[in-house]
Amino acid sequence: MSDTIVPRGTFSLEELEELLLGRWPGGDAALAARARQVMADEVGEEVRLRGLLEFSNRCTSDCYYCGIRRSSRSDDQGAPLVRFDLSEEAILEGARLCLQEGYGSMTLQAGERRDRPFIDFVEGVLRRIKEETVTPDLPRGLGITLSVGEQTRETYRRFFDAGAHRYLLRVETSNPRLFARLHPPEQPLERRLQALEDLRAEGFQVGTGVMIGIPGQTSRDLARDIMFFREIDADMIGMGPYIEAAGSAREEMHRQGLLPDTSGAERLRLSLRMIAATRLVLRDVNIAAATALQALSPTGREQGLAFGANVLMPIVTPGGQRRAYQLYQGKPCVEETARECISCTPRRAAWARRPVSYHSWGDAPHARRKEGVFHD
Ligand code: 5AD
Repeated sequence: MSDTIVPRGTFSLEELEELLLGRWPGGDAALAARARQVMADEVGEEVRLRGLLEFSNRCTSDCYYCGIRRSSRSDDQGAPLVRFDLSEEAILEGARLCLQEGYGSMTLQAGERRDRPFIDFVEGVLRRIKEETVTPDLPRGLGITLSVGEQTRETYRRFFDAGAHRYLLRVETSNPRLFARLHPPEQPLERRLQALEDLRAEGFQVGTGVMIGIPGQTSRDLARDIMFFREIDADMIGMGPYIEAAGSAREEMHRQGLLPDTSGAERLRLSLRMIAATRLVLRDVNIAAATALQALSPTGREQGLAFGANVLMPIVTPGGQRRAYQLYQGKPCVEETARECISCTPRRAAWARRPVSYHSWGDAPHARRKEGVFHD
């Protein structure tokens, strides 16, 4: 596989599979170099930052693999899982922190709820952040990425009108059988796909992604996932290794036969190849070096950058709430404060020999091109 025989961005499923199996000519180092070249050409070398604020761990979904699933009862230490909601003021404080640090964007994430009070709350918070973060560098306030799961199209419209302009909703896997093994019957894949369509229709820049190394997942599945990203014309991708859940959710993983069956090192390698492959196929999208990479290696996120990722999401969730937002075991930065995550972020970019971009939304060129805007 080389550019002389493979047209730009065009790979067959078989070629992607080969790549994921580690058969890129010259090995993973050559693959990383190629992905980095495409990244530099299409989105630039700069690492874009989004402060990640996890504002509530209440969740009505029951994804078998997730540490904050509805029926999770204990955290990783065996202590009862404390459900929390940050106040509007605490969220605003997080937004101001992002602003102060020169992050032009933040990501607001929480467990999935569709009740009226939650939706009203999120809408109100979005409006306040947009009003209170206008600066000369950011005439339209902080860029906001929202990640609160499947909602109705009307709710998505309200969130968009309130000022969120990007949305993350991972498909987790595009293989229907695998999706059905990971989720209870009342969470069908069709609803997830509908939500992704609705987000697009309401004007959001859409991010999706998958978990990598799920038991039973094949390299063919992962190659198809990349084709799925292309089919739905994703603007952003966030994906990372599949990891043992925290606390009592791990028991459910065990019951469902879903505990990871490959080593952490293998899942990390596969995740890095997925990042590179996605960069080669989708080219001008934003790709996050997900936090979960760091659960498998202290330099996991830096390696993600080296394989073609261009987004880091430093956690700005207040220290006190982090233990209660452990989606999986060994989630990094649980003991850290927002300040510590803020100071280690430029170090991670520097380790990967990459500049950091400050004071801008950092939308994916892919999305900007669709909107007819050719530079940020
Ligand atoms: N391993 C890896 N990723 C996980 N997530 C949730 N639980 C796990 C796990 N056990 C990811 C899902 C979800 C995102 C918020 O966190 O992909 O979309």
